[in-house]
Amino acid sequence: MKIKILICVVILLAVGARVVQTQKLTETSVGPSVAAKAIANGSPENIVGTDRCRSCHKAELTEFSKTAHAHLDMANKPAMTCESCHGAGKPHADAEEAAHGDDAKTAAASKLIFAFRGSARENADRCLTCHVSSQQQDMFGHSEHAAQGVACNECHATHLVDEIKDQSKGSLKTVQATFFQTPELPDETRWLHNSLLKDSQPALCYKCHATVKSQFAQPVHHRVPEGLMKCTDCHNTHGTMNQANLIKTTTETCVGCHVEKRGPFVYEHPAVKVAGCTICHTPHGSPNRMLLVRREGRQLCLQCHAGFHGEVAVPHGRFSFQTSGECTRCHVTLHGSNFDQYFLR
Ligand code: HEC
Ligand code: HEC
Ligand code: HEC
Ligand code: HEC
Ligand code: HEC
Ligand code: HEC
Ligand code: HEC
Ligand code: HEC
Ligand code: HEC
Ligand code: HEC
Repeated sequence: MKIKILICVVILLAVGARVVQTQKLTETSVGPSVAAKAIANGSPENIVGTDRCRSCHKAELTEFSKTAHAHLDMANKPAMTCESCHGAGKPHADAEEAAHGDDAKTAAASKLIFAFRGSARENADRCLTCHVSSQQQDMFGHSEHAAQGVACNECHATHLVDEIKDQSKGSLKTVQATFFQTPELPDETRWLHNSLLKDSQPALCYKCHATVKSQFAQPVHHRVPEGLMKCTDCHNTHGTMNQANLIKTTTETCVGCHVEKRGPFVYEHPAVKVAGCTICHTPHGSPNRMLLVRREGRQLCLQCHAGFHGEVAVPHGRFSFQTSGECTRCHVTLHGSNFDQYFLR
């Protein structure tokens, strides 16, 4: 009963959140989800336009121009420009021009523009001015990532700026030098077709999640390292209401693929229905067959069932020695059965 009430509350909360989200959508929304807004950060007279930026930041412009952002239908508003994210650029552009290459002055001038060097919150908010209405990202505020200060630009590169600089390894210190260099970008195609991610999965995630990496290195694992599955088949990195930011509740996430385990069955096993898949299986990887949390499946069953019978070695004495070994030799449909209340077939 208590559990039912709890579930109802959770569902109501989730529905409530949806309603609030829907109300945030305005008529300016383009496409299925993201509301494209022509935002002007800073006073309008300080907007200089992309042509002005191009004169010094050709590489950024070249890369940016290839992305979906550069080709948005902004519903008769001015198209998305550098300043949609970086804010009005006149003070910065003027000061850089006046600096005439002087290092100190150049550095001072670069402080005059928003460059995603602030707090994670500030950085994410800049992207969320538009992406707040997109279904994938609308829960970002609830994500562990937001809570731990991981902003959008830790994972996404809107114009591969970092990568260009990394490749230069010090040889391309100035914007002027970048201007004359046509960067070789072997990853560019992947980037453009893969949500502008800085790296592909799981490498992108392993950079910070070393423990998870070692879990997937176990002998039995979902084939994420082999590239047959992605972390985001189970998780939404942008946040959800579910535990561990899973795309659905734990069991629903699993039966999304393992449909034959979903039921409903005439005879349900409460271990599956109530406790859920992860009471017996580790989702990432395990040294044990079938991703079991225990090496001996038998011990797993006795964890809950020993108490029922009092005899630890054999739970139902009248079969005596026959019940040694794995319980699943006889209880073959332990995930649920339509034919037998004891899961024997
Ligand atoms: C006259 C040349 C010039 C113009 C015009 C110019 N910039 Fe810059 N910008 C620079 C230089 C030089 C730097 C410092 C680069 C460095 O340190 O590698 C810089 C740095 C930046 C940075 C990084 C700041 C930081 O803290 O690292 C951003 C973001 C930026 N510019 C955006 C823009 C945008 C947007 C425009 C157009 C509105 C623009 N710039 C126009 C020369 C210019
Ligand atoms: C969709 C938002 C967005 C747009 C539009 C955008 N930028 Fe950026 N820009 C960023 C982010 C985010 C960063 C920080 C890079 C990072 O953290 O990887 C950045 C960083 C930079 C930097 C600093 C490079 C560095 O290594 O830190 C420069 C210079 C720059 N942008 C120039 C431009 C120019 C020029 C344009 C227009 C062609 C532009 N940006 C358009 C989001 C944007
Ligand atoms: C001015 C509004 C606006 C801002 C600011 C903005 N975006 Fe977007 N973004 C959009 C729209 C609109 C789309 C297209 C959605 C679609 O086509 O469904 C989009 C698409 C994307 C995509 C998908 C691109 C693809 O190739 O599929 C990514 C990733 C993305 N944005 C990340 C970011 C990040 C990260 C930031 C902040 C650095 C940011 N956006 C800032 C409006 C914006
Ligand atoms: C921890 C890494 C991470 C962070 C932080 C992150 N993203 Fe993403 N984002 C991803 C991954 C991974 C995908 C690809 C999902 C997939 O392919 O299933 C993605 C996809 C997207 C897409 C494309 C969705 C689509 O349907 O094509 C958009 C837009 C986007 N992110 C915007 C954002 C914005 C805005 C933020 C910040 C509020 C953000 N992301 C923060 C990892 C991240
Ligand atoms: C088959 C589905 C699935 C895949 C694929 C998956 N996860 Fe998970 N992950 C889960 C589940 C379920 C949990 C919750 C674990 C629990 O309840 O004990 C979880 C938990 C986590 C946690 C929380 C900490 C922890 O270990 O309990 C992190 C971080 C995480 N996953 C990251 C990742 C990363 C990174 C990838 C890709 C390399 C990934 N996951 C792939 C299902 C998955
Ligand atoms: C820049 C570092 C960074 C990157 C990149 C990153 N994460 Fe995380 N992630 C964190 C931090 C920090 C936390 C919070 C602490 C923790 O649980 O490890 C977190 C938490 C999570 C959680 C929630 C764990 C929980 O207990 O609720 C999941 C799931 C997750 N990350 C998945 C991913 C996936 C999938 C990717 C790749 C698409 C990814 N992360 C990329 C830093 C990162
Ligand atoms: C995106 C689809 C997908 C999701 C979601 C998924 N799985 Fe799987 N799972 C697979 C595939 C495909 C295999 C097949 C074997 C392989 O890849 O080696 C598998 C294999 C397994 C196996 C058998 C491993 C073995 O040794 O044969 C178990 C147990 C399992 N999954 C449990 C889970 C649990 C528990 C969850 C939820 C946390 C889950 N799966 C979520 C796709 C999925
Ligand atoms: C009570 C413990 C327990 C629970 C809960 C449980 N499993 Fe299992 N599962 C097992 C055992 C034990 C095996 C190995 C069966 C065998 O030895 O043949 C197994 C095997 C599997 C297999 C591989 C063999 C097959 O039958 O396809 C998959 C896939 C699987 N489980 C998925 C799930 C999913 C999805 C859930 C949640 C809906 C779940 N399990 C819940 C104990 C459990
Ligand atoms: C998380 C605890 C838990 C685990 C682990 C677990 N079970 Fe159960 N199981 C239960 C509960 C609770 C019931 C319902 C008991 C009842 O109705 O009297 C049950 C019922 C059963 C029943 C039917 C009993 C009946 O009287 O109808 C069988 C058979 C069974 N489990 C076998 C297994 C086997 C085999 C395993 C190991 C693969 C296992 N269980 C693991 C909790 C668990
Ligand atoms: C040799 C086949 C066999 C093995 C092995 C076996 N069982 Fe059973 N089990 C049965 C049969 C048959 C029943 C039906 C009960 C009856 O007829 O008394 C049963 C019934 C049960 C019940 C319900 C009995 C009750 O009194 O409520 C549970 C719980 C159970 N088994 C758990 C286990 C566990 C845990 C293991 C492993 C330690 C296991 N079984 C190993 C054949 C087996």
